[in-house]
Amino acid sequence: MTLQPLPLLDFRSDTVTRPDETMRRAMAAAEVADNVIDVDPTIAELEVSAAKVLGMPAALWTPSGTMANLIALSVHLDRGDRFLATRGAHVLNNELGSAAWLAGGMPDILEHDAGPGRPTPDTLAAAIGSAAGPYYALRTTLLCLENTHNAAGGAVTPPHEHAQLLAVAKDAGLKVHLDGARIWHAAVALGVPVAALTVGVDTVSACFSKGLGAPVGSVVAGSAAFVEQARRTRQMLGGGVRQGGVLAAACLVALDRVNDLADSHENARRLADGLVEHGWEAATPDTNIVLVRVPDVPSTLDWLGSLGIQALPMAGKVRFVTHRDLSATDIEETLGRIKTGARA
Ligand SMILES: Cc1ncc(COP(=O)(O)O)c(C=O)c1O
Repeated sequence: MTLQPLPLLDFRSDTVTRPDETMRRAMAAAEVADNVIDVDPTIAELEVSAAKVLGMPAALWTPSGTMANLIALSVHLDRGDRFLATRGAHVLNNELGSAAWLAGGMPDILEHDAGPGRPTPDTLAAAIGSAAGPYYALRTTLLCLENTHNAAGGAVTPPHEHAQLLAVAKDAGLKVHLDGARIWHAAVALGVPVAALTVGVDTVSACFSKGLGAPVGSVVAGSAAFVEQARRTRQMLGGGVRQGGVLAAACLVALDRVNDLADSHENARRLADGLVEHGWEAATPDTNIVLVRVPDVPSTLDWLGSLGIQALPMAGKVRFVTHRDLSATDIEETLGRIKTGARA
């Protein structure tokens, strides 16, 4: 008798979610046009809707969050400018150094001394230093925030802390870019409108391909003048797509589903509680990312893999990400497999 492999439970990322029938139908029916030489009406509709939700004057569709961040940094930074970002930020650790290689910025790290994912205003002020300097002084011109903060376990920055950081940055004349790949998660978890988390920023990026089912698509939002420049940078990077409305249609469906994210947050809490009951050191998640401290990350990932549970390493821990393609039953199944596996 051959043993059937266990069905895989995929916690590697919320990017693994797939477009369902409703989304595929919307994609198939999308009105389209060449978005480089003309305007694709569905992309345009998405850009207007996303800008409104994000509380920004304008937005530009991009194929990925990485490109959205790179465009913002390229527009904000001159070569050799110093920019500040939180330890473990996606723009620092997960974008192949493009902030330096392509946007020309020199990164510096802010510690998370206010709580996971965020510095205190004092730490930020100290890192910025004095505004005026001689012509040979290094220039610090940009602050990059991340909400939710991936490497800090999907941690949220609430509006009042966001406002304090913005005040310090703006006082010192810095531009502010917010990596809001999962800003929808932060808004749902905090019970505030998305726009409450972007107050004062110059630009924000946001993704539809994380936990919402869209196969492709992000936006970068800012002023109309920023978007005009960003459109040229996107083209330079090869991100000017033609009949992209078929992709933007999926993003529009995703945008309508933001409130469903509460389910994956609930599942993440259930998972973390179950792992703690099992004796593992898991922090209670703010959103959909559970980080677990284990003595040996590679061997734990291998062991989980042998149980049909897929996860990834992040910040020296094991990272489980919940999403719309994993149900509450899947969480129970996961915890059951871990319990049984540990006894075997
Ligand atoms: C915080 C954050 N920013 C940006 C990105 C990049 O998005 P993409 O994978 O669409 O390039 C990710 C991806 O997971 C992310 O977690």
